[in-house]
Amino acid sequence: MMIQNHASVEISDVTAFALSVAREAADLVMRILPEGMTSKDVRHKGPRDLVTRADHEAERLITARIRTRFPDHGILAEEGTAASGDVRWIIDPIDGTTNFAHGVPMFAVSIAHEERGTLRCGVVVVPPLREFFVAERGRGAFLIAGSEPPKRLATSGVAELSQALIATGLPGEPVRSAHVATIPAFMRDAQEVRIMGTAAAHLAYVAAGRLDAFWEPGLNAWDVAAGILLVEEAGGRVSTFTGQPMTPPGGDILATNGPLHTTLLERISRRT
Ligand code: 2AM
Ligand code: CA
Repeated sequence: MMIQNHASVEISDVTAFALSVAREAADLVMRILPEGMTSKDVRHKGPRDLVTRADHEAERLITARIRTRFPDHGILAEEGTAASGDVRWIIDPIDGTTNFAHGVPMFAVSIAHEERGTLRCGVVVVPPLREFFVAERGRGAFLIAGSEPPKRLATSGVAELSQALIATGLPGEPVRSAHVATIPAFMRDAQEVRIMGTAAAHLAYVAAGRLDAFWEPGLNAWDVAAGILLVEEAGGRVSTFTGQPMTPPGGDILATNGPLHTTLLERISRRT
């Protein structure tokens, strides 16, 4: 499939499939977003870990499409779908469920495809904004929004923390309290700190050069798989908090534009 931009870009059939499934899932969750909490069937998986009818319905939709098209592929999805295979899909039907449950229009659908430990393609959709962030290994990262031609993404060139808009998240315990204690130093030294409530969108925004960096401990594969490829294909850097490559996806993640990586890695590892 060809998507046109200044230098026209071809995406694989697998990526085109992921994009079309993401569109369907985005439409489904947007129909449920205006409903009240009772109708959304908001439940607690943990004290701060919510799930809704929309998470389950979107996961069922995405996994049904994958099983029809690629019956021999594995699937790892947040709300319980698990099937093994060294060619697999890693899915978060809604990343930012707390926002979704409260009607805050900032959340994402995240779909990634991995072959033998290598991320091949990733799609992060922010449905309320109708923005589709698409990456394919070796071919770059793109933003598809409305009827605009796809736009190639590149991370920012900001090299000074004082000029950087950086984002973090509030994970569940046991890592929550120690992580929160590290945030004030960044509030002091960065241009500003944001907490939008969705790791996948934070990563897509780093890829788009809107944010200069994102860090958060204790994440799951489905929160970050698509976003990691987006950042890498947009020219940024992704590592663990000790600077190791993030394979498999998940755990403590630092994703930056590139120029800020060493500075942030040093500060996060010494917790200031
Ligand atoms: P979710 O909405 O898919 O659960 C916010 O800091 C990020 O952490 C979101 O990507 C959110 O994903 C995830 N998250 C929320 N609650 C969590 C928990 N209890 N443990 C780990 N991750 C969590
Ligand atoms: Ca989720």
